[in-house]
Amino acid sequence: MKSEKILPLKKIKKIIYIPYDKSITHRSLIFSVISKNKSVIINPLKALDTLSTLKILTKLDCKITEKNNYLEIIPPKKIFSLVPLDCGNSGTTARLMIGMLSSLKGSFQLIGDDSLSKRPMKRIIEPILKNGGEIISDDNFLPIIIKGKKIKKIEYDLKIASAQVKSGLILCGLNCKEQSIIRGRIDSRDHTERILSAFNCDLQINSKNIIINPSRPKDIVLKIPGDFSSASFFITLGVLHKNAEIILKNIGLNPSRTGYLNILKKMGADIEINLKDDIEPYGDIKVKSSKLKNVNIPNEIIPNIIDEIPLLSLCGALSQGEFKINDISELRLKESDRIRSITENFKNIGLKVIEKNETLIIKGDQKIKGGIFNSFKDHRIAMLGGICGLLSEEGVEIKNSECVNISFPNFFDIIKQL
Ligand code: S3P
Repeated sequence: MKSEKILPLKKIKKIIYIPYDKSITHRSLIFSVISKNKSVIINPLKALDTLSTLKILTKLDCKITEKNNYLEIIPPKKIFSLVPLDCGNSGTTARLMIGMLSSLKGSFQLIGDDSLSKRPMKRIIEPILKNGGEIISDDNFLPIIIKGKKIKKIEYDLKIASAQVKSGLILCGLNCKEQSIIRGRIDSRDHTERILSAFNCDLQINSKNIIINPSRPKDIVLKIPGDFSSASFFITLGVLHKNAEIILKNIGLNPSRTGYLNILKKMGADIEINLKDDIEPYGDIKVKSSKLKNVNIPNEIIPNIIDEIPLLSLCGALSQGEFKINDISELRLKESDRIRSITENFKNIGLKVIEKNETLIIKGDQKIKGGIFNSFKDHRIAMLGGICGLLSEEGVEIKNSECVNISFPNFFDIIKQL
């Protein structure tokens, strides 16, 4: 069990290089398994979460060669596995793999760590069972056994805006016998749709539904940008700190991920972006100290800012006016119960916060005194603690800080060099 004590800083002026995107790395690795030929993944994220996916690829008999900054992946001739596939801490790995493997012939066992084994898989298992797939589980939690087979088609109305579930169902649909359709809450991050469409998969997408025709990706060559959610820790630091100017290079700016920037701008943040178009748009972000005012946060934007809500709550506490965010029950189902993680830790470091079921209310214009921050073994909570330390009066000690290895292994090194 490691802990880190982070003390306040007087001035921050820095160019920061952020690790590569976790969501896009998971996806490009997973898509390469069913690809017709070799994939080249440039700048994959090297962190514990994506390592879980990579290890599964090895167990599925993919041939993986690591060169300087890229991976070459040759898919297996036949996809099968005799050993358990360990998703570690990664919900993305689990849900995408469940979808993909369900429509491939073969038997697969999926396991995960303690945290992942408590996270809900019903959201992906149920639509697959309803459409004729076969998955054996104890009450819809990992470990599970997938009896993969050629399914006729997937037809499903998504009730939760989850990119992991949507992506799992798209992957399942690609190997079905007939055309599949997903309706309902498809308004989550769209990396899967973009990347698969760019590499030969036959998807028709509009605002109401996604139609998936049986097809396979081919010739995937993808350059992965910096992770916007990881960059958001330093965007937050830049706008909230009294004397800061931070430049973040080559960050993913897919519009289905950047709702946090839009809210910060509405709050009055001094942020400049230079956007370059690509399959996954990217660019540099420059942030400076800003005077922020709380604004209304519409419920529809929640899927777009889902991983940045802990940071937005911190902005809420340090900005003028009252902060209120509704409809955030999904936060209870992440690597930790993030509503509880926020409220307990904020109280520990001197911030007042009110939690009401699915709503957080925080009085504005507060100051961070300092104290203990428990990561709850959740990478994004440990990093939130680090940012709080830099903005505090007396420093913050983050307990169980090693979980940053899930998505951002050098987070505390960067912080200590600011
Ligand atoms: C992710 C989607 C989000 C997000 C997670 C990564 C993805 O989860 O919270 O960190 O890569 O698809 P949900 O899709 O469950 O909301």
